[in-house]
Amino acid sequence: MQNMIIAIDGPAGSGKSTIAKQLAKKLKIEYFDSGSVYRCLTLYGMNHFNQSCEGYESEIAQCFLKNPGLLEIRYVDHRQTLLLEGEDPSKRIRSRDVTRQVRFIASNPECRDVVNAKMRSLAKTHCFAIDGRDIGSVVFPETPYKIYLDADVEVRAKRRALEMGIELNSAEYKQLANEIQQRDQGDRNRTIAPLILAEGAKKIDTTKMTVDDVVKLLLDWIDSNPNN
Ligand code: CDP
Repeated sequence: MQNMIIAIDGPAGSGKSTIAKQLAKKLKIEYFDSGSVYRCLTLYGMNHFNQSCEGYESEIAQCFLKNPGLLEIRYVDHRQTLLLEGEDPSKRIRSRDVTRQVRFIASNPECRDVVNAKMRSLAKTHCFAIDGRDIGSVVFPETPYKIYLDADVEVRAKRRALEMGIELNSAEYKQLANEIQQRDQGDRNRTIAPLILAEGAKKIDTTKMTVDDVVKLLLDWIDSNPNN
């Protein structure tokens, strides 16, 4: 039988990572941030190939295939720890530059295979709440616990600005809101593994909900799942 996988998909700022972390804590399982792995491939490409990864996607994937140790994913005290070429990339992968370039990596099938293989291999030994764009539709379509979170784009931009310490209504905020919209479009319209509502997924609009509301609703839903 497969280990428990809670697949949480949705656009940026819909609450995926906050909710996934809380569910993982309550259920005593691990949290897996699949976006951080796409970000690691992007950072590697920017460092070794070109400031823009565009055009180098296959070569970047080949590097990770040939040398799987380039990116290590470990769990220390229930915290996902990443080591990219032996160093902690967690701050650098959140830069705006990486966020802008990640679409090239995310729309390349070979790069997606690299990331998916990492997730599937770890899922053999761990139970996870995983957030991303295609976790319920492509990576773990067989899990009975598929969730799709959404929220109005303005609310999502405000949440992200708060996280990043960006003042609302500033020029930087407007740029951030624009980038979120563009990334949404890219994620929804790409041909490979687009962001869609997976079959059988529970869809929640978190626009007017608190984190506690969403977590409670989902814990009840997981509890009442016939697969338990
Ligand atoms: O947290 P945020 O929404 O900013 O993004 P993320 O989860 O860190 O993911 C960054 C980007 O990686 C997304 O915009 C997607 O293009 C891509 N991604 C993906 O294609 N598939 C996933 N399972 C996770 C992320």
